[in-house]
Amino acid sequence: MAAAGSAVGLGNIWKFPYIAGENGGGAFLIIYLVCVLLFGMPLLMTEFLIGKRSGKSAFGAFRELNGNGRWQWLSWLCMLTALLIMGFYFIVTGWCFNYLFEAVRNTFSGMSTEALTAHFSAVASDTPRMIAFSLLPMVLTAAVVWFDVNKGIERLSKILMPLLLGMMLLMVGRVLMLDGSNVGMQFFFRADFSAITPRVVMEAMGQCFFSLSIGMGALITYGAYMPKNQNVAATSVQVIVLDTLVAILAGVIIFPAVFAFGFNPAEGPQLVFVVLPAILQQMSLTWVSSVLFFALLCVAALTSTISLMEVMVAFICEASGALGQRKNGQPRRALSRQKSVMITSAVVGVLLVLCVLSMTGKADWLTIRGYNLFECFDDMTACVMMPLAALGMAVFVGWNLPKDGGRGVLNPSQGVKRWVGKAYIFALRWIVPLAIVIIFLNSLGVL
Ligand code: TRP
Repeated sequence: MAAAGSAVGLGNIWKFPYIAGENGGGAFLIIYLVCVLLFGMPLLMTEFLIGKRSGKSAFGAFRELNGNGRWQWLSWLCMLTALLIMGFYFIVTGWCFNYLFEAVRNTFSGMSTEALTAHFSAVASDTPRMIAFSLLPMVLTAAVVWFDVNKGIERLSKILMPLLLGMMLLMVGRVLMLDGSNVGMQFFFRADFSAITPRVVMEAMGQCFFSLSIGMGALITYGAYMPKNQNVAATSVQVIVLDTLVAILAGVIIFPAVFAFGFNPAEGPQLVFVVLPAILQQMSLTWVSSVLFFALLCVAALTSTISLMEVMVAFICEASGALGQRKNGQPRRALSRQKSVMITSAVVGVLLVLCVLSMTGKADWLTIRGYNLFECFDDMTACVMMPLAALGMAVFVGWNLPKDGGRGVLNPSQGVKRWVGKAYIFALRWIVPLAIVIIFLNSLGVL
């Protein structure tokens, strides 16, 4: 449930609808589902197994498994990916918190479609407000990681995720009663493949990595906490089903409403933030529904940010103890968890401020080829860094593990049927690396 809590987050409710909306709806959904099947299952199992086998998080796990240190770059890549994701994820979480506060104050009542769109722009371009609202969830996350209460996440996830699901089901019911909702359903479920370009396939792959939290070692840590007799294949299936269900539900809520209220499906990152308040205004007990929904959204975001920050904190702890020696030849003492949280928060905090400045147009030098840092971080991590780390993990675990010791990772025994184990190895060795390379080359126009 904790892994599902990490997977289910803004990736499902915010990012999935907006990318699907930009890329033609139904056809994107199909390609996304294919990616989930191709990459999700083998890579989730791999990360869980690496963690379960080594009992460590990314840095220590790669060290323990590889013997010669040649694959250590993977853990650096994972850490850097976590850092950049945090650099934009907290900003979106900040939007959620902002909307939660506004829901409490009942700001949205009576706002028209245009007013909601204008309202989001006003919020997102208000520099001090955005800085405050993205630092708030960061501080909350740091507090959880600081006290190492991650095991409490499991309990939290068990109660709040079903609640979020229930709330979403109610919203589906309401949205489907709107006049004109069928246009949105057709947009989301009827595949028009003419909109599909190599670039779109790449985005679908990136979204699959992002949504399932794979390709940056976050789930290695969760694997390390698994009891020895846990069935890794079954757990992976559960995480995938739940995560995909929430993404599809989000689509079924957003798109009918987009068309019924006259929004633009290709609105971009603000899509759900302009559409959701419009839907919530239509729910009975509007105030309660709005506050409850945005509160649950904030919690869903926080269970994800905790797993992101944990990657970097654990990395700093483990790496600081393992790298180099002191002058007198003694091994260095690892930094404490608390120091590591402080370093992480400081770095992420600076990154967030820069990112906000670049988004609100306060700093033109903080853009890369016309894209602001938010867009760069989002795109770079999903479309380049996570697929690259996943490729690395697939090759490393599938082909390069030392015969002694390491090979156990490839054997997900414990209750897993033999054919499943065989299919897993085949997928990891062949399908995952080949598919990633093909999608890369294709989007670069090489194929
Ligand atoms: N999967 C989360 C979401 O959908 C985001 C996330 C949390 C993540 N932890 C991660 C993505 C680790 C990649 C890796 O919102």
